Amino acid sequence: MQQEKITAIFDQQAATYDEKWGRLAPINGALHLLTGSVLSGLPTSARILCVGAGTGAEILYLARKFPDWQFTAVEPSAAMLEVFRCRAEEAGIASRCVFHCGYLDSLPQDGSFDAATSFLVSQFILDRTDRAGFFHGIADRLRPEGILVSSDLAGDISGTGDRPGLLEVWLKVMRGSGTIVDPGEIQQMREAYTRDVAVLLPREVGEIIALGGFDSPLLFFQAGMIHAWHAKRSHGQTDS
Ligand SMILES: C[S@@+](CC[C@H](N)C(=O)[O-])C[C@H]1O[C@@H](n2cnc3c(N)ncnc32)[C@H](O)[C@@H]1O
Repeated sequence: MQQEKITAIFDQQAATYDEKWGRLAPINGALHLLTGSVLSGLPTSARILCVGAGTGAEILYLARKFPDWQFTAVEPSAAMLEVFRCRAEEAGIASRCVFHCGYLDSLPQDGSFDAATSFLVSQFILDRTDRAGFFHGIADRLRPEGILVSSDLAGDISGTGDRPGLLEVWLKVMRGSGTIVDPGEIQQMREAYTRDVAVLLPREVGEIIALGGFDSPLLFFQAGMIHAWHAKRSHGQTDS
């Protein structure tokens, strides 16, 4: 899907995004908990780049856990970023955040961030070379050995014979959690996941992250279709 269409969809969803996806809070809570542990060795005053920050869920968690960290939220949807700005003000962390409305290429490549997060973002980039380029853009902005934590929808969704694929399990989670109740919307989601979102095997996503300039990505989390990897910026990675 074109970037402008994706941004328009998130602009439309921004006002209700947290209420709707909050029904999957146990999954996101577990991912945030593990992410905090993965990043726990960073300096007290670490600088974190959050690409596709949306309404800021991962930043709000990390900011509470690490009270001196600074965050740069990169988010193309102005409406999603505005929701995050309000939440950051309510939580008293706005002074520790830079709110950057746009894509990563509009942010200087100063190689100064200690770590980056990118949660449920690269899946929207259908072309594998472009997707590796997205991760390269993150690597270019990290200090040497800076850490990436990335999550995406992934898995074997096709199913074989009478064994359903992971997508069917995931759609049951959508229904059971009350995230999506309308049968028409479930069908739309089934179609979107095979057409508008690049749902690959976990091994393939790991390979794309490595191509993007990271060493041996480790798959450290899976809940349903949500998978997450962490990896260090490769030694050989040079700023482009
Ligand atoms: C599914 S939401 C996830 C938001 C947040 N990271 C979370 O986990 O709650 C994906 C976000 O990525 C943004 N996005 C989509 N494509 C992007 C891109 N190429 N670069 C940066 N952000 C992007 C969208 O606007 C949206 O806010």
